[in-house]
Amino acid sequence: MEVWEAIRGRRSVRSFVDRPVERSLLEKLVEAGTWAPSGGNAQTWHFVVVTDSEQLRRIKTVSPGLLGNPPAVIAVCQDLGEAGRKGGELGAKFLAPVDAAMATQNILLAAHDAGLGTCVIGSFHKGAVARILGLPEGMEPVLLVSVGWPAEVPKPPPRKRDVISWERHGNRT
Ligand SMILES: Cc1cc2nc3c(=O)[nH]c(=O)nc-3n(C[C@H](O)[C@H](O)[C@H](O)COP(=O)(O)O)c2cc1C
Repeated sequence: MEVWEAIRGRRSVRSFVDRPVERSLLEKLVEAGTWAPSGGNAQTWHFVVVTDSEQLRRIKTVSPGLLGNPPAVIAVCQDLGEAGRKGGELGAKFLAPVDAAMATQNILLAAHDAGLGTCVIGSFHKGAVARILGLPEGMEPVLLVSVGWPAEVPKPPPRKRDVISWERHGNRT
């Protein structure tokens, strides 16, 4: 798939068919995440892949933003202790969440390329998810990504236009 086609064609999918996603495919998605850029090349991310139905149920209970019943959820996590040791306050407060977002976009695009549907979930209880996943002290889930075979792909929500300035803000030409 062309990069531009992947960027334009990816949609947030919130409805999935009842079919598991192969482990090798999920591993591939995580690998795509690790090829994202990383501030100072710190790579303090960690990915917890959840496919167990009881674990998925627990996560759903504390994640109002998780819609549908995906057969897999990838929790994109950051070791904020390690990020702080490597990059100080900038590392822990800024670079770590930005790195997680970059890794997440790679996961979304790789999944789309494989015919999978995904949705980023920011609306979840961090502490509860950390407990459910058994994350060590200092590691937190930044984003969840639901992954599955799409039952329905929504129409693309329109994009905001008029988002470019040239040289200085407000200069449109
Ligand atoms: C940081 C972030 C958090 C999001 N959180 C949620 C969420 O909790 N639940 C949800 O259904 N979608 C969530 N989304 C998906 C957006 O609603 C979606 O990207 C947006 O509507 C544009 O649609 P598209 O992804 O199909 O282009 C989130 C997206 C981002 C980037």
